Amino acid sequence: MSSESTTAFKPGLEGVPVAESAISFIDGKRARLEYRGIAVEVLAEESCFEETAWLLLKGKLPTQKELADFDHELRHHRRLKYKLLDLIKCLPETGHPMGALQAAVAAMGMFYPARDVANPKTQWESAIRLISKMPTIVAAFHRLRHGDEAIPPRDDLDHAANFYYMLFEREPSPSVRKVMDACLILHAEHTMNASTFSSRVTASTLAEPYAVVSSAIGTLMGPLHGGANEEVLDMLSEIGSVENVRPWLEKAVATKRKIMGFGHRVYKVKDPRATVLQKLAEYVFSETGTPLSYRIAVELERAAADVLGPKGIYPNVDFYSGIVYHALGIPKDLFTPIFAISRVAGWLAHWLEQLKNNRIYRPEQIYVGERDVPYIPIEKRT
Ligand code: CMC
Repeated sequence: MSSESTTAFKPGLEGVPVAESAISFIDGKRARLEYRGIAVEVLAEESCFEETAWLLLKGKLPTQKELADFDHELRHHRRLKYKLLDLIKCLPETGHPMGALQAAVAAMGMFYPARDVANPKTQWESAIRLISKMPTIVAAFHRLRHGDEAIPPRDDLDHAANFYYMLFEREPSPSVRKVMDACLILHAEHTMNASTFSSRVTASTLAEPYAVVSSAIGTLMGPLHGGANEEVLDMLSEIGSVENVRPWLEKAVATKRKIMGFGHRVYKVKDPRATVLQKLAEYVFSETGTPLSYRIAVELERAAADVLGPKGIYPNVDFYSGIVYHALGIPKDLFTPIFAISRVAGWLAHWLEQLKNNRIYRPEQIYVGERDVPYIPIEKRT
């Protein structure tokens, strides 16, 4: 039995446009990613996360005054209500920080009701709160789960430096701050990926922005999406040595095992963000020394180019991001939350874009189950 639908089913909606969007652009054959038309490599070099977030939300680069005002507002809203902090304290310290982030963001919607989603003031205030408080939530959960006090945010530090400070209770060096900031820029937006689609579906119901972002956080968690960066480090330590790369890869390919941090639905060449992250990694290692994980990763990229390259499978953003974060001393299970505190800018840009011309998402299915099945009373069932 099948439904009346005449449209072919596309698993994973591959190639099916689900929105018209002016936020970001990918050319998957030419390794090109642009935010509002500007190449991401240029933004990673020249911009800062605050400016990039404005660009995504507003559609153009801010003037000096606009950026100063935006930055001021972000710094002003970093603190958490004590009840929100209490809620975070009650979460199990063994739980994944992505769960804590999702729960705390959902709870924010109870503290800052934003039902009037069409109101520009509500939209802007919600966007500011989400971007400024998510780093505080991640850092607070991390500190509290180790029995340490949460470190209050500092208004004299920018977004990237303040996040680092709240994690470690020390300021980052200028080079570490720059790397952290560039990582936030690189992860801020990426066309119609799973979590962004999730945010747009939730937005299309006119749900509050905190529900929009918490649904996107849940979607980002999975190992096929944002969660891959954690798994890359596990994979590199499983490989263990540069010499073991080729035998390990041969076995992985023979058993059809997925290589984490490789492959992408859209890129058929090396992800441009992976190229920038690799340069950032080398920049960090010029100060800290090159770890074994990086040498294994470089050899894996080289070996995989022969085996997986012909299929268009190359390193994606997650391949080098975990190695960079690890070198900065950031624990593995915070990699995906950092992805989220950056990507929230893109999710919110899509939320605002969806609301401009909204129609609720209500796709089709192809029914493959039985029809007209008689109900059998329980005593007669075998
Ligand atoms: N290692 C080995 N083979 C792969 C890989 C990989 N990483 N990725 C894809 N393939 C193969 C796959 O086995 C399949 O081969 P065949 O046609 O012979 O069966 C073919 O390529 C198509 O794969 P797919 O899984 O159908 O492709 P997709 O577009 O549905 O999935 C992907 C894209 C990113 C989920 C997938 O490449 C993957 O699982 N990669 C590993 C996880 C990962 O690194 N995820 C991060 C993605 S980038 C950041 C983000 O989105 O958050």
